[in-house]
Amino acid sequence: MAGGVVVNAAGGKTYPGRMTAFVFFTCLVASSGGLIFGYDIGISGGVTSMDSFLKEFFPSVYAKAEANKDTNQYCKFDSQLLTLFTSSLYLAALATSFVAASVTRVFGRKWSMFCGGLTFMAGSVLNGAATDVLMLIMGRILLGVGVGFANQSVPLYLSEMAPAKLRGMLNIGFQLMTTIGILAANLINFWTVSIPGGWGWRIGLGLAGVPALIITVGALVLPDTPNSLIARGYNDDAKKVLVKIRGTDDVHDEYDDMVAASEEASAIEHPWRNILERRYRPQLTVAALIPFFQQLTGINVIMFYAPVLFLTIGFGDDASLMAAVITGLVNMFATVVSIVCVDRLGRRALFLQGGTQMFISQIVVGTLIALQFGTAGVGEMSRSNAWLLVLFICLYVAGFAWSWGPLGWLVPSEVFALEVRSAGQSIAVCVNMTLTFIIGQSFLTMLCTMKFGLFYFFAGWMFVMTTFIALFLPETKGVPIEEMNLVWSQHWFWGKYVTADTQHGGGSRRSNGV
Ligand code: BGC
Repeated sequence: MAGGVVVNAAGGKTYPGRMTAFVFFTCLVASSGGLIFGYDIGISGGVTSMDSFLKEFFPSVYAKAEANKDTNQYCKFDSQLLTLFTSSLYLAALATSFVAASVTRVFGRKWSMFCGGLTFMAGSVLNGAATDVLMLIMGRILLGVGVGFANQSVPLYLSEMAPAKLRGMLNIGFQLMTTIGILAANLINFWTVSIPGGWGWRIGLGLAGVPALIITVGALVLPDTPNSLIARGYNDDAKKVLVKIRGTDDVHDEYDDMVAASEEASAIEHPWRNILERRYRPQLTVAALIPFFQQLTGINVIMFYAPVLFLTIGFGDDASLMAAVITGLVNMFATVVSIVCVDRLGRRALFLQGGTQMFISQIVVGTLIALQFGTAGVGEMSRSNAWLLVLFICLYVAGFAWSWGPLGWLVPSEVFALEVRSAGQSIAVCVNMTLTFIIGQSFLTMLCTMKFGLFYFFAGWMFVMTTFIALFLPETKGVPIEEMNLVWSQHWFWGKYVTADTQHGGGSRRSNGV
């Protein structure tokens, strides 16, 4: 569909929107920022289930796990220090996301990606060479800084480069790379656990430098987004990039709209204060609640602790890591479903279907564990029940991978007006990382105290969030990013906060009650 402006369902405009080789390539390179995020999620769970790693850095956890072999299954790995190793990264990432917001806005999206890659590389060197817990945790903090930068800038970059009609698909490249990173880490864990001498975990932690190198070099060759170039006064460059990514000279309408959005944005000096204004209430609520709910699906219980969880239900070392590889594969392939469907079926349909599937799977998983281990946490799971459990965990992961996983990053990055987009994305990253930290830090204790009820706890949240989506999330598929305000103004509830005349959401034109 080259040329001409077409009025879409929301009453707004759409612009030339075909997939060009250039946009595909730039988005592919930028998505590799997801690799560092994913690699890290996958590697820590595996490493913390390796005896040699535990013996070297967390001997008390190792001793406890050994001593508890035949007693309470729910509590054998419960250690705050061990969880701190996993979750310290997320604390660093959440603190960094605010700095990253300014770098992203003032210097452009690409330099934020570059900073992310560089710090992540430093962290991987420190971790691979670690000789004590301090070095390990320092390394994790640097990795966290890297993730903070990358997760702030990459989703924004993708949403701004993509033509509206393909925005969902291209943005989900980030999540796809995240799942590839997780899977690669799972496979590397599976391989390194058997390396004689017990130093295999060093390879796993050190190899994080590879995805870091990809995004660092990638960021250097990428152009910045037209929106960011215009916002920083490089209008000619912006037009050139726009012509290149859209594959046509007929980009005037889209360009004019970007300039208008940028003029409105430049009238705003304090994005952090502005974003709290009434007219941004809907976007702010959604951008904060979506990552909050994403983590309350309980996904990282599986992602971080799948091997530990599988050990808990009675699999051996190898079988546990193998089961983690299986969930990693499901996670990756199911994300492709989302890529294919998101711009056709829309965000809401995926959220509602995926949420329901996850709700049912959580109930089944909780029940299977309850039947086997009861509240005392003693017993052994039969092989067939253990595999049935793996099956439902896979159904749960698949549901996540085509709904809350990708959409948890896509939706916050596409709902804001330019002037507060970067600030809004930081809020999304910050909420996501805070919740990831809390769940990462408390899962082993929660499992120990809530037992199988933990899975019902997450199922309860699934119910709440699916209802929230049904009532409060407007459909954003195919709507140009600069026209998003129309969607909010037409919503049965949020319409009270936003009026259609606040075209790009900000600046001189005001909305209700402001
Ligand atoms: C989430 C991560 C999660 C991953 C799993 C991401 O969207 O933010 O917390 O581990 O998906 O694929």
